[in-house]
Amino acid sequence: MAIPDDSRRIFKASVLNPIAPDRVDAYAPGYLTVAGGKIEQLTSDDPRPALRFAEYIDISHKTIMPGFVDTHVHLPQFAIMGIGSGELLSWLNTYTYPEEARFADPEYAAKISQQFFDALVANGTTTAVVYSSVHEEATDIAFCAARASGIRAFIGKVMMDRNSPDALLEETEQSISRSVRLFNKWDGAEEGRLRYIFTPRFAAACSMQLMKRVGEIALERGAFVQSHLSENRHEVEWVRRLFPSSPSYAAVYHGAGLLTERSIMAHCIHLAPDEIALLSRARTKVAFCPYSNRTLRSGTMPYQTLRDAGLNISLGTDVAGGPSLSMLEQMRETMTAAQIPWSEALYLATLAGAKALGLAGRIGNFERGKDADFVVVANDVVEEVYVRGRRV
Ligand code: GUN
Ligand code: FE
Repeated sequence: MAIPDDSRRIFKASVLNPIAPDRVDAYAPGYLTVAGGKIEQLTSDDPRPALRFAEYIDISHKTIMPGFVDTHVHLPQFAIMGIGSGELLSWLNTYTYPEEARFADPEYAAKISQQFFDALVANGTTTAVVYSSVHEEATDIAFCAARASGIRAFIGKVMMDRNSPDALLEETEQSISRSVRLFNKWDGAEEGRLRYIFTPRFAAACSMQLMKRVGEIALERGAFVQSHLSENRHEVEWVRRLFPSSPSYAAVYHGAGLLTERSIMAHCIHLAPDEIALLSRARTKVAFCPYSNRTLRSGTMPYQTLRDAGLNISLGTDVAGGPSLSMLEQMRETMTAAQIPWSEALYLATLAGAKALGLAGRIGNFERGKDADFVVVANDVVEEVYVRGRRV
């Protein structure tokens, strides 16, 4: 179908286009041409002589970059962002689990879900990989809120069938059947912009039986899976005690069939070399959440080691382990934690996230034909956000 010329817009701005970890092309200025919700071209020459009937927007003093991809964030922790303290296990019990239990109430779930997606968009996040609570209805509500916001989202109902407070604990079969119903209802909705992602919370709160079933179901359906791996030393020790016959934490997930190229493991801080090799062979994706790791005093993910092992590393805010939904903040944390330049952090916040999700052909930078998801940044603040060419 021909794209009508009257929907074409040319933005003149400083434009940053991530290509690889060590290559972000900078146009100062650049001309980003958007038509029919897609990227038409990015040039350093003014394209107006060749393009008639285009609206021209001169924001030369501002910077355009791709919309951010947050590959690890917890919706039902939005209201406790910046409130908790302490390390992971006590933080979960004291702040996080009681707040997530509130999502049994659909009204509360609807209120926070809307606030959450509004806040993601305001921060320039145009694709997000989201943990919901254990509740089926609250997760359904989260999908509705994501749909209303227009962004891309991978959302999963958290699964917890042991070592969890009564208010959140599920029977194994119940956890599976709720998740499968949500998968059937939502995976691929909105022209594929909404995806279901199976979400066993972490090995300490999941039985091997549950994790194996998730592994089988995800394999059968080509579904995505997310979980937490090796975040905190006490958590690692706990998982060791729970699975004494497993050689390592990563091996627990591997044994359940949860390490695939469609699984995203958050944190990956305290991994032994054989665990890194397992992830690498499986092409499992790593969500790096440095702001959370500093806040919860979890340690520092060995970025260079994981990158050198060939792993795809992308960024996650991990709200509310992390105290901010802002991917710009996350990028600043990343520079310090990983000792990398800002341009590499931008790559991790955009194209690396797209790759993690198998979406590098659709989003993540300004290649022709990709969705026109981008942000306008001025004075270190996200001022405007565009999703498929529309200002949101
Ligand atoms: N491990 C298990 N659950 C969680 C959670 O909600 N947040 C973080 N950061 N780690 C976890
Ligand atoms: Fe998390």
